[in-house]
Amino acid sequence: MDTWTLEKTGFDPADIASDGNRFLCANGFMGLRGVPEEAGSELFPAITLAGVYDQYRDRWREPVNAPNCLFVRTAFNGREYALGPKPHEAHLCELDYRSGIYRRETDFGPITVRSERFAYMPLCHLLADRYQVTAHEDGELTIRAGISTDIWDINGPHLFDFQFGQGDVLTVQAITGQKGIKVAVSQYIQKDFEAEESRIQDGTGVFRLLCCPVRKGQTLTLDIFAAVHTSEDTTDPLERCTHVRDLTGYNQLKARHISAWDEIRERSEISLEGSDEAALALHASQYHLNCVAPRHAISMSIPARGLSGQTYKGAIFWDSEIFFFPMFVYTQPEIARSLLRYRIETLPGALKKAAEYGYRGAFYAWESQEGGAEGCTNFNVVDVFTHRPVRTYFRDKQIHISADIAYALRQYYAITGDRTLLEEGGAKVILECARFCLSRANVRLDQREIDFADVIGPDEYHERVTNNAFTNHMIRSCLESALSLEQIFADDPGFLAALLREMDYEKDWTLLSDAASCIRGPRRKNGVIEQFDGYFDLEDCSLETVRGRLCDPREYWGGDHGVAGTTQIIKQADVIAMMALFPEDFTDQEVAANWAYYEPRTEHGSSLSACMYALTACRIGRLDEAWRLFMKTAEIDVTGGGKQWAGEIYIGGTHPASNGGAWMIAALGFAGLQVRNGIPELHPNLPRQISCLTFPITAGGRRMTVEVTHDGGTIRTL
Ligand code: BGC
Repeated sequence: MDTWTLEKTGFDPADIASDGNRFLCANGFMGLRGVPEEAGSELFPAITLAGVYDQYRDRWREPVNAPNCLFVRTAFNGREYALGPKPHEAHLCELDYRSGIYRRETDFGPITVRSERFAYMPLCHLLADRYQVTAHEDGELTIRAGISTDIWDINGPHLFDFQFGQGDVLTVQAITGQKGIKVAVSQYIQKDFEAEESRIQDGTGVFRLLCCPVRKGQTLTLDIFAAVHTSEDTTDPLERCTHVRDLTGYNQLKARHISAWDEIRERSEISLEGSDEAALALHASQYHLNCVAPRHAISMSIPARGLSGQTYKGAIFWDSEIFFFPMFVYTQPEIARSLLRYRIETLPGALKKAAEYGYRGAFYAWESQEGGAEGCTNFNVVDVFTHRPVRTYFRDKQIHISADIAYALRQYYAITGDRTLLEEGGAKVILECARFCLSRANVRLDQREIDFADVIGPDEYHERVTNNAFTNHMIRSCLESALSLEQIFADDPGFLAALLREMDYEKDWTLLSDAASCIRGPRRKNGVIEQFDGYFDLEDCSLETVRGRLCDPREYWGGDHGVAGTTQIIKQADVIAMMALFPEDFTDQEVAANWAYYEPRTEHGSSLSACMYALTACRIGRLDEAWRLFMKTAEIDVTGGGKQWAGEIYIGGTHPASNGGAWMIAALGFAGLQVRNGIPELHPNLPRQISCLTFPITAGGRRMTVEVTHDGGTIRTL
């Protein structure tokens, strides 16, 4: 079995949304959905731009999709051939996970269309497509290649004031409605045939028409080069786009693209022996996370649905620090650094949000957009019955986000041994997050105890609860991380002293240690930690019972009216996520008791859930379950699984958190990798389905190779 290629035979309009995600090409700057070249908006074509957002009227703010600059459609003897809206059997497409190259071949009868394309990795503004048409009869071909403005937008339109250029390089420049950001794209072609050439411009874009006679059996090849720039990355994006005409040929570009991917894989690839299905799933996961990594930017994070479209408003969630960060910090620490730099740079947004709620310190956006702006609305779900927006509290109450960021900053230092990120703003972020936690605390004077009331933990189905175990534990760790700065900078006490002074932090500093020790620990029953105060009093029924109460499969389970809210059924790992992230704070017996209690009560309604259960399952020897949850996590973007709807909101896309989760299960769970006092160690828990795992890591600035078999594990320094 080929474990490097995702293949699909036949075109089915019912799969359009999911195939666009599964066959994504991306390079961190942009994501090109896996749709055919000739796609109009009904097939959801999108070139989603990282970090460029817009709001249209009062709709949700979301990332901007650029005009489709790889558009091509072919007509033979006056009839256009295009996929959709009907199924078409004679079609195959594939994505090579080694290099992110997408290929399709469609037999339309009189002609066959073949193409191969990629989002160029060495220079993130470029796309390339080799498009070939073979005629099966003599006739007249008309190829329409150009820039289509008929693209997918969930809450758009976002682009206005279009200017079209019809020179040898076709161009389109438009500006975003809200901020007037210029978005420019271009298309240039090289061809191996003579044709009569003309231009057309209509309401759907600007195109060149190439008309020529063809003989039966003749193949015409068109190499298409496209560029995308915005005024966020250069002052004159339109001018920059015209440089596509200077590119050398397609084959050279492709060779450089492949070697850029070879390097990425050399630094991050986990090779798994024993199960081809698992190897394919792991290759898919690693491809999908690597292809959306911001290699072009020193301060940028990754949206929860990667660059597969505008779902989840293209926003940055805790997914970045808790689920994407581990793979990067262990394999490509400069990317982990970029994710955290994004938080350092968006600190002003977090300070502002805290102040708006009447708190001090940094309260990071639950759904962070550029500059740390909060993308999460007060009404984040639409009720399927009334079609009314439902008041949700993710934005106001999911306070663990700030502590999660502090957690990742501390991990970065622990794993890389690199203090510079802390010096360059990271320490300040930790201190501001700790200050927020102090100011958000509810102090019970009569009991010398600190509660965190009115919060939401990772399990979002239970809103506005008190003393969520995960939140309290994360917050304690945040306060301890702030205190640990003293030890980290023990050789340079002046640095911390000056920082505390500059931040007017002396009083807060004196509170930290006392506060950390007073945070209410979780209540327990028979060794099981209560997820929040009163959780055990909720109706204890099975997942099937709760599912059986749904009147509509797209119904939202959480909040006041959701089927799960009054029961012990939870959306995703919560207590178990805490145990996975703080393994040293819990014994094996505690993990085992909590796993046994919570797993059957977990819907796994978020793709973030299974990996936390799998990680902890490894530790307690539930290896068959770890395997099952690993496959569920790793396969998600192979099968196109995961929830597609929350109420009436489409939430499909790729799943970088699961992709990162798959890496975590393999490396931290199966191989049992841990860094203690700067030294990596292995505690293997290899399931019987795997015979050998090998992967590269970087720790303490040194590159190493890990190999784990059923005979044990070794770490070799390179
Ligand atoms: C999950 C969150 C997650 C978000 C983005 C939600 O469904 O509950 O924990 O951050 O999706 O992945």
